[in-house]
Amino acid sequence: MNYDYNEISKIYDDVREGDFLTADFLIKAAELDGTRTVLEIGCGTGNYLKLIHGLSKAEVWGIDSSSGMLAKAKEKCKNAVLVEEDAVALAGIPDGKFDLVYMVDVIHHIKDIDTMFKNIYRVLKPNAAVVIFTDSHEYIRNRLTTKYFPETLAAELNRYQDTGEIKDMLIENSFHCISDGELVLEPIEDYGTKLIEVAEKKGFSMFGLISEEAIEAGIERIKADLEEHAIIYYPKAPYIMGVK
Ligand SMILES: C[S@@+](CC[C@H](N)C(=O)[O-])C[C@H]1O[C@@H](n2cnc3c(N)ncnc32)[C@H](O)[C@@H]1O
Repeated sequence: MNYDYNEISKIYDDVREGDFLTADFLIKAAELDGTRTVLEIGCGTGNYLKLIHGLSKAEVWGIDSSSGMLAKAKEKCKNAVLVEEDAVALAGIPDGKFDLVYMVDVIHHIKDIDTMFKNIYRVLKPNAAVVIFTDSHEYIRNRLTTKYFPETLAAELNRYQDTGEIKDMLIENSFHCISDGELVLEPIEDYGTKLIEVAEKKGFSMFGLISEEAIEAGIERIKADLEEHAIIYYPKAPYIMGVK
């Protein structure tokens, strides 16, 4: 089974939105304002580019390998410079231009992280930061998606790099001041109903990794729990950062 982001671009914004606290963290981390320039790798439909530009007025660039996702980003974020490009080579992205490079829920899709980090280093200004939002293995084990769709666990642990591996790769690529942390995001009320919609639309790529039967069984588990009690999710956003 695979996951086609051109296909998923048609429903992506039904099931995902940019998170204000995450955008605010990035703006403060890189002191973004109208004089700064930011690159999002794997910008998808532009939810974070729109939030960050709207809040900080920074010049925003986004790259993504899916033309379908970028078409949505173009509609939403007219000010962004958008490039259809693979994250690894960052071809066509200028050297030493950016005050911040960030990625949200993308690094597990990248085949050659080492080369990508070399290129992120190339396009950053001196002393500028890279911030990678990605679920740690501990976080994956505790997600509600794992509770309701247990078949996702092995597949997710297999494709997600854990925090320590990413930190080591940043160090190997000359980044310094490496740190990690976790943002506490707003609780999501009525998560059960939302998760059923995401699963039915396969709005998370993990649903491309398990069988239709496993998805249906998970939806039935959620429905059974909803008969008994509300399902509220208390999400966090684990991140890793480094400085050029
Ligand atoms: C889960 S979405 C995240 C989108 C956006 N960062 C967000 O948080 O809404 C993953 C995105 O990564 C993009 N992507 C996956 N592999 C990529 C690659 N090798 N190069 C560039 N983009 C890639 C996909 O097309 C998709 O838009």
